[in-house]
Amino acid sequence: MRKILVTGGAGFIGSNFVRMVLAEHPECVVVNLDKLTYAGNLENLRGFLDHPNHKFVKGDICDGDLLARLIDEDRIDAIINFAAETHVDRSITGPKIFVETNVIGTLTLLEAAREKKLERFIQISTDEVYGALGDEGMFTEQTPLSPNSPYSASKAAADHLVKAYGHTWGVRYNITRCSNNYGPYQFPEKLIPLMINNALNDKALPVYGDGLYVRDWLYVYDHCTAVWSVLHQAPPGRVYNIGGCNEKANLEVVELILSRLDKSKSLIKHVTDRPGHDRRYAIDASRIINELGWKPSVSFEQGINKTIDWYIENHDWLTDVVSGDYKRYYQTMYGSR
Ligand code: NAD
Ligand code: TYD
Repeated sequence: MRKILVTGGAGFIGSNFVRMVLAEHPECVVVNLDKLTYAGNLENLRGFLDHPNHKFVKGDICDGDLLARLIDEDRIDAIINFAAETHVDRSITGPKIFVETNVIGTLTLLEAAREKKLERFIQISTDEVYGALGDEGMFTEQTPLSPNSPYSASKAAADHLVKAYGHTWGVRYNITRCSNNYGPYQFPEKLIPLMINNALNDKALPVYGDGLYVRDWLYVYDHCTAVWSVLHQAPPGRVYNIGGCNEKANLEVVELILSRLDKSKSLIKHVTDRPGHDRRYAIDASRIINELGWKPSVSFEQGINKTIDWYIENHDWLTDVVSGDYKRYYQTMYGSR
């Protein structure tokens, strides 16, 4: 695929993907469509914004006319849809925008992919569509969808639409379902960057409930290489789980961050739990490993060290994103917790 429309390419994973493509695949041209919500930040594309193979467009994936124009003007071959509202806690306090962007936005993109007969539509989904696990087992691509939060429900609805467009109109699609990502440029509302930022500032680290909730972590660059493999090697209509077999309890992650930063565990504060909190996620990624030959490039220990170093070295980026609206967000979410 030579000309790709990447949506949400100013967010965390999207910007890492755009930078990877521009740096490693000079034959590929990227049109990057992003609404620049609180989570979108052109600073995430520092050094790449004016790259000759990159065109940034500020706009909404719900705008069908804009999509049609971009696909024609730039002769787009494929869409990779990273754009979404992504934070579970925000979906609990304000679910409507999650349905607008994640469901209607995906529908609008699918209409464009159908009308323009694109070569491929890649939907970046999440393991959270499968629901929660107990102590045993892993999510496979055959696990029935059973989402528990407004965020995961909106992502599951989008997955169903993608499959329906493939079945009904022959849209050539893939769906990827990755586990929790971490790495450079992640907005500090998510666990790892929030805890790094608080620890660096000697602020309390708010651990929900008993802290024994388990997530399966993948370094963001490895998610990006997996999506690239799917785009270029996968047969249409196939779903791929993506994960690195790195299950960790939240407390373990938080304690590791404190120890790397040489801070005291007394900063940990157990706070009121998230309503409907999913206990455990674990991804069986054997399909993408066996069929496409993908594998992660770093272990969790290497990835977390690189991530902590990045946040220390990019203090200006962090200071910028936690000013203004973030302070209000933090007060609303954690002030009385
Ligand atoms: P993010 O919140 O950091 O970025 C989302 C981006 O989408 C932002 O740049 C935002 O401006 C843009 N956006 C939001 N609404 C838009 C709209 N209507 N039109 C155009 N752009 C819009 O998200 P992320 O963590 O980078 O996640 C990217 C994708 O990966 C999402 O689809 C998410 O569901 C999925 N995912 C994330 C994780 C994770 O751990 N972060 C794990 C698995 C899957
Ligand atoms: P999060 O990064 O929000 O990702 P998700 O809920 O999509 O998996 O949260 C990861 C885990 O960390 C989850 O179990 C909730 C927990 N958590 C906290 O304990 N404290 C926090 O301040 C945050 C943001 C998350």
